[in-house]
Amino acid sequence: MSILYGIFFALRQLLTSEGFPPKPQFEEKDVPDLSGKVVFPLFHAREYMRPNLPIVYLITGGAGGIGFELVKILYSKNANVYIAGRSSDNAIAAVNKIREEYPKSDGGLAFLQLDLSDLTSIKPAVDKFLQKERRLDAVVHNAGIMITPTHWRTVQGWDIQFGTNVIGPFVLQRHLQNILVETAKIAPKNSVRTVFLSSISAPLAPPGGIDYKNLESKGVSAFSAIQYFDSGLKYAHSKCANTIMAMGFAQKFKDTGIIAVSANPGNLNTDLLRHSLIAWVFFRPWLYPARYGAITELYATLSPEINDTSNGALIIPWGRTGPIRQDILDSCQEGGAVKFWDWLDENTQGF
Ligand SMILES: NC(=O)c1ccc[n+]([C@@H]2O[C@H](COP(=O)([O-])OP(=O)(O)OC[C@H]3O[C@@H](n4cnc5c(N)ncnc54)[C@H](OP(=O)(O)O)[C@@H]3O)[C@@H](O)[C@H]2O)c1
Ligand SMILES: *[C@@H]1O[C@H](CO)[C@@H](O)[C@H](O)[C@H]1NC(C)=O
Repeated sequence: MSILYGIFFALRQLLTSEGFPPKPQFEEKDVPDLSGKVVFPLFHAREYMRPNLPIVYLITGGAGGIGFELVKILYSKNANVYIAGRSSDNAIAAVNKIREEYPKSDGGLAFLQLDLSDLTSIKPAVDKFLQKERRLDAVVHNAGIMITPTHWRTVQGWDIQFGTNVIGPFVLQRHLQNILVETAKIAPKNSVRTVFLSSISAPLAPPGGIDYKNLESKGVSAFSAIQYFDSGLKYAHSKCANTIMAMGFAQKFKDTGIIAVSANPGNLNTDLLRHSLIAWVFFRPWLYPARYGAITELYATLSPEINDTSNGALIIPWGRTGPIRQDILDSCQEGGAVKFWDWLDENTQGF
C-alpha cells in the first residue's frame, strides 16, 4: 500500500460522498424523549424493561465544537448529559448557554473534569461519575486535537495527538466498561453505545492502519521529515486507530450487547484547525456548520438503524455506514483489531 493510494482514497471520499454528503436522515426531530421516564418508541416496546434510572450520556469535549452541539441536542430531549473535559470555565460557560437555550428541558447537565493527555486524571474523574450514576447509555469519545506542533507530548510522554485521541479515550473507556455492561442488561437492545471519532484523513494512515513500530516510541518518531506533514500523518494515524478501536471493541465485547462504532463527523467549522493555518486554508471550502457533525454523532449514538450487524462500522456524514480502506479492513480480520485493543490495554497498565 503506497501513501499515494491513501491520498487517492481520502481525496475521492472528500470530493464525493464524505465531502458532499446527502441530506441527513436522522435529526433532532427523529429523537424521542431521552429522560428515561417515557418508553423509548424507536425500539420495540416489548424489549424495553422500564428502568427507574434516568438515561445518561457522557460526551468528552462537550464544551466546544461538535461535542457542544451534540450535548445541546441530547439535553433538549431531556437527557442527562455529562460533559467531560479539561477546562471547567469552558464547561460552565457551555452549560449556562445550553440551559438558557432550553429552559424547559427536564434533563441534567454536569461537568466531569479530566485531561485526556494526562492519564492520571482519568480514573479519579470516573470514580466521581460512578459515585453519582448507576447507568451510562453511551459514551462519545468526541474530544480530540489535530495537527499540533510535533514536539508536543502528553504527560506520560506519548505523541500529543496519539495520546489525546487514542490513549486517553482508551483508558476512559476501560474505566467506564463495567457501567456500560451493566446498563446494556437493562436498556433496550443495541441502545448502549461507544462512539469513537474518526476523520476523512484516516485513509492516510500507514499500511494496515497501525504502525506498531512507530508506537514503540509512543508515536513520537517521525513519519515524515517535513514537520507539518509529519503532524498531519500522526493525526491520520490516530484517527485510523480510532476506527480500529471501534472494530476491536466490537469484536472483543460482542457478547456484552454494547455497540461500538467510529464516526467521521464530516468537515466542520470548529476550533479543531486552530493549530494549522495550512489545513484551515485547504479545508475551508469543505467546512459545514458544527451542528452537522453533531448530527453524524447523533446517528452513531442513537439511530435504531445501527444494530449488531453494524457493530464496529465506520459512520460517515451525516449518518450512514461508510467504506474503510481495504488493507486496514483486512488487518482487522481474524482478531487483528482485537490485537490493537489488547496492545492498548498492555501499554496503559497502571492507569
Ligand atoms: N471539525 C472537523 O472537521 C472534524 C473532522 C473530522 C474529525 N473530527 C473529530 O471530531 C472531534 C471533535 O472535534 P471538533 O471539531 O469539535 O474540535 P474542537 O472544536 O477543537 O473541540 C474539541 C474538544 O476536545 C476537547 N479536548 C481537547 N484536548 C483535550 C484533552 N486533552 N482532554 C480533554 N478534552 C480535550 C476540547 O476542550 P478544550 O476546551 O479543553 O480545548 C474541545 O472541547 C475530534 O475528535 C476531531 O478529531 C472533527
Ligand atoms: C440491522 O440493521 C440493518 C440496517 O439498518 C437492517 O437492515 C436489519 O434488518 C437490522 N437487523 C435486525 C436484526 O434488526
